[in-house]
Amino acid sequence: MASWYKNVDPIEMEKKAIIVGASSGIGRELALLLLADGWHLGVAARRESPLLELQAMAPERVEVMTIDVTKSDAGERLLQFIQRIGGIYLYFHASGIGKQNRTLEEDIELRTVETNAVGFTRMIGTAYRYFAQRGEGHIAAITSIAGTKGLGPAPSYSATKALQATYLEALEQQAHQRGLNICFTDIRPGFVDTALLNDSFHYPMLMRPEAVARDIVRSINRKRHVRIIDFRYRILTFFWRLIPRCIWRRMKL
Ligand SMILES: NC(=O)c1ccc[n+]([C@@H]2O[C@H](COP(=O)([O-])OP(=O)(O)OC[C@H]3O[C@@H](n4cnc5c(N)ncnc54)[C@H](OP(=O)(O)O)[C@@H]3O)[C@@H](O)[C@H]2O)c1
Repeated sequence: MASWYKNVDPIEMEKKAIIVGASSGIGRELALLLLADGWHLGVAARRESPLLELQAMAPERVEVMTIDVTKSDAGERLLQFIQRIGGIYLYFHASGIGKQNRTLEEDIELRTVETNAVGFTRMIGTAYRYFAQRGEGHIAAITSIAGTKGLGPAPSYSATKALQATYLEALEQQAHQRGLNICFTDIRPGFVDTALLNDSFHYPMLMRPEAVARDIVRSINRKRHVRIIDFRYRILTFFWRLIPRCIWRRMKL
């Protein structure tokens, strides 16, 4: 990895971030809030046109790159993007897919694993190694409350979200053991009204993506380690974690 970033002024770096998964939903709302707060942003996803719309709002502070996290060159593209921006302090991972899959179609299961597990590991790992070399940084990602229990209606979504949360926890410990100054924030929302839930099912306690993004900004500023959004889901997950497996497997979700 190149060492060009060592010459970058650390104060200039503080408000520079890349959001992967900024083309819609929570990632897009977060981009809008960070832009309003004066950040310089790199925004990435597969679809370019929504990213260009973000760029049009503040052309001098937004850079765009198409990245598909499932492709093997995605890590390399992220590094090129970081270099183009002149270094970053925050890497935010919002990319993800999820579908209910009550009949366990193989294609849905495998695509979810490719994006949420393999793609996530690829991108978070690239950001981690970059920050390890740079000496500091902050990695934040949207996992989900779905990772806190095995959910029958969405097996691979639930399992990959558990992987994401455990991976962040493990990296946080590894960074500490290595004396690396890297912060980690694991964002775990409940149901949010975005394209991800654009199906025929009813979702209770639905939250607006704008409200979730505001909570994310506060969580990043306070360097929270784990943030379940919102308080109703903090209560729900507290209790459902206590449910023993012999009862959980009989519950109708
Ligand atoms: N909505 C909820 O209820 C909810 C709850 C908890 C957690 N989450 C999590 O929040 C995150 C954001 O989801 P959202 O609700 O905001 O849904 P969304 O509007 O569908 O956003 C998903 C984002 O991920 C990007 N993405 C998907 N596949 C990608 C790939 N292969 N490479 C790069 N980017 C990719 C999409 O961009 P492109 O399609 O342009 O690539 C889009 O920007 C996800 O990780 C999701 O699991 C959502």
